[in-house]
Amino acid sequence: MTNANVCIKLTKGQEITKIREKLDITRKEFSDALGLGLVEEKELKFWETDKKEIPDEIYKRILNFPTDPPFVTLESEKYKFTQIDLFAGIGGIRLGFQRHGGRTVFSSEWDKFAQKTYRINYGEMPAGDITQIDEKNIPNHDILLAGFPCQPFSQAGLKKGFEDARGTLFFNIAKILKEKRPKAFMLENVKQLRGHDKGRTLEIILSILDELNYYVPEPEILNAYHFGVPQNRERIIIVGFNKDYLPNNYMEFQYPTGIVDNSIKVGEILDKKVNDRFTISDKLFQGHLERKKAHKKKGNGFGFSLFNSESPYTSTISARYYKDGSEALIEQDGKNPRMLTPRECARLQGFPEDFIIPVSNSQAYRQFGNSVCINVIDAVAKNMVDYLENYKVL
Ligand SMILES: C[S@@+](CC[C@H](N)C(=O)[O-])C[C@H]1O[C@@H](n2cnc3c(N)ncnc32)[C@H](O)[C@@H]1O
Repeated sequence: MTNANVCIKLTKGQEITKIREKLDITRKEFSDALGLGLVEEKELKFWETDKKEIPDEIYKRILNFPTDPPFVTLESEKYKFTQIDLFAGIGGIRLGFQRHGGRTVFSSEWDKFAQKTYRINYGEMPAGDITQIDEKNIPNHDILLAGFPCQPFSQAGLKKGFEDARGTLFFNIAKILKEKRPKAFMLENVKQLRGHDKGRTLEIILSILDELNYYVPEPEILNAYHFGVPQNRERIIIVGFNKDYLPNNYMEFQYPTGIVDNSIKVGEILDKKVNDRFTISDKLFQGHLERKKAHKKKGNGFGFSLFNSESPYTSTISARYYKDGSEALIEQDGKNPRMLTPRECARLQGFPEDFIIPVSNSQAYRQFGNSVCINVIDAVAKNMVDYLENYKVL
């Protein structure tokens, strides 16, 4: 027998290590990704070192855990346009545009946990801090995508044009637009950007984009609920088209409008069986009830919000959801309410079922809360691609 024919059979523990190492994630992250309870989370170490026998059902789940990135960038021959993904998070914007033929040629995200989710799902590691990257080194691309953090501009603004943005992350976007002159861009932000610093922030952004010779239709606020998911999430979308590629009498760009579909219910995204670890403790629930009472006394409506499977939508899931779940708790019969699971949050943001969640639950909540509703982005991407194709720009 030659060496090549020798087949060493791995123990179950070694198989688990092999899968976990391929994913390059910790045991805690793997446990959360597998949806294990707290007791099982502790056992994982013993199963992996073959000190205890792993239950068949969990071992099967581990063997079936995907280790190849499900959303790799499109093969070169299939793509319609190239795109860059800035402030990439976990790539929600990228995925919406990828569905319409976008091939990502560069991405940037500095959070190491978001980078991990990105790497495992798209098979590429985003570059880090965008402020440290020379725009000249960014590959040429057709569409620039960015869900950038909202920051105020210096008080001296609206005097020097482009330079007004210096020191903000928007300035990094503007510098790339200036250097690379992509055919179009899509920027996404919280709805509050419109009123931020009494409207000055948006005003400066729009004047700089205009100065860079982009046609920027009036930004639109779009709600995830109008795009097929049971979440009330309003976000501002700013698109722009490079006038160098448009005729003088270009048409007005139309944002997608979505529809109100009364048949959509929170029940659609809820799991049938949910581990008790997501039920909030008596202490936390008590705290929620007391805060609600105090808010009511003061005459405001803040406090935690309860939903059930018949609710039309949840409130907006934010990056702070992991703290106490106050934005959206789910009622349970005879028990305290529970938090949404990370997978349920993923569904509320329109992420596909095969999107891999390779981080701890608290990181996953942050990542989905920070991300976008992919359905909204998908609809915007469609209208943008149609618009550009109409002028044979793509
Ligand atoms: C609102 S989130 C965008 C999420 C993204 N649209 C998605 O679908 O997941 C903004 C992201 O920008 C990242 N970020 C902030 N400053 C950055 C910088 N200087 N360089 C790279 N990434 C940065 C944050 O870590 C965060 O993930």
